[in-house]
Amino acid sequence: MRSSSRSVIRTAVFPVAGRGTRFLPATKASPKEMLPVVDKPLIQYAVEEALAAGARRLVFITGASKRAIEDHFDSDQELEHMLERQGKSDLLNQLRSVLPSYASCIYIRQPAPLGLGHAVLCAQPAVGAEPFFVHLADDLIRGEVACLAQMADVYAAKRASVLGVEVVPRKDTEKYGIVAVEADRSTTSRVRSIVEKPKPADAPSNLAVVGRYVLAPTIFEHLERIGQGAGGEIQLTDGIAALMREEAVYAYRFSGHRYDCGSKLGYLQATVEYALAHAQLGADFRRYLKQLDVKAAVRAPGGRTRRSAGS
Ligand code: G1P
Repeated sequence: MRSSSRSVIRTAVFPVAGRGTRFLPATKASPKEMLPVVDKPLIQYAVEEALAAGARRLVFITGASKRAIEDHFDSDQELEHMLERQGKSDLLNQLRSVLPSYASCIYIRQPAPLGLGHAVLCAQPAVGAEPFFVHLADDLIRGEVACLAQMADVYAAKRASVLGVEVVPRKDTEKYGIVAVEADRSTTSRVRSIVEKPKPADAPSNLAVVGRYVLAPTIFEHLERIGQGAGGEIQLTDGIAALMREEAVYAYRFSGHRYDCGSKLGYLQATVEYALAHAQLGADFRRYLKQLDVKAAVRAPGGRTRRSAGS
């Protein structure tokens, strides 16, 4: 993933307090952000994307059962010594590169699950009066240039908040913040309106906000003022709607492919495609998929393919 050289955005906020109920029981005692796609947890992909976009201060808004995230980005001396003794230098290097020394982590606890807008507001003491990224780790985006780096370039050009968007099927508008923009076909366009999870019939378009934002610090004033919105939560979308009454907000159609790792199907799709693209595993995995008797497997769900039945 290539990075951006022009970024002036130093802080990335990762709201990670959600309980991930869709993946229970896998997420009962372990954060959903620690679910691995091949060999890295989702939150590590998130951090790598933010670092590639120039972020250096990483702010995690955490909640109950999220200690594993802190442990993941902390150094583990005991494990490092063990790998050193065993001469496993490749693994040791991988472990040490989880968090480069120029990056720092800040953990802030969200006291109650009051919504994404509230989670972002919790980051204010760490963000201060600068623009910042918000990254939702559920949305995994694969592309040649890190999605946040693309958005940092848009911010550098417009000096205004930027929302990462993509077209979704109209039946899915209820899952997203939906925007109406001034120039429908442009890659970057000023947002005219935004609404959280509208029914397909009420949606102003089918252009959905995915989990990538560059926000001006003025968003905090609005998040402080707005009350509960959809689902009784303090919605980031409502804060952005209020912000737009005072300053420009842009929607940006990023280049790259998004996997909705908040759903089991999206997570499986990401796993398969990242495995196919994996430097060490890819070729073997491709061979495995080719020889897999997919038709037989589909006819016998939960069972074995005819070829492997006797093995
Ligand atoms: C959140 C936001 C929504 C956005 C979505 C992207 O919803 O509230 O506006 O479109 O993330 O993934 P959630 O998926 O947390 O329900």
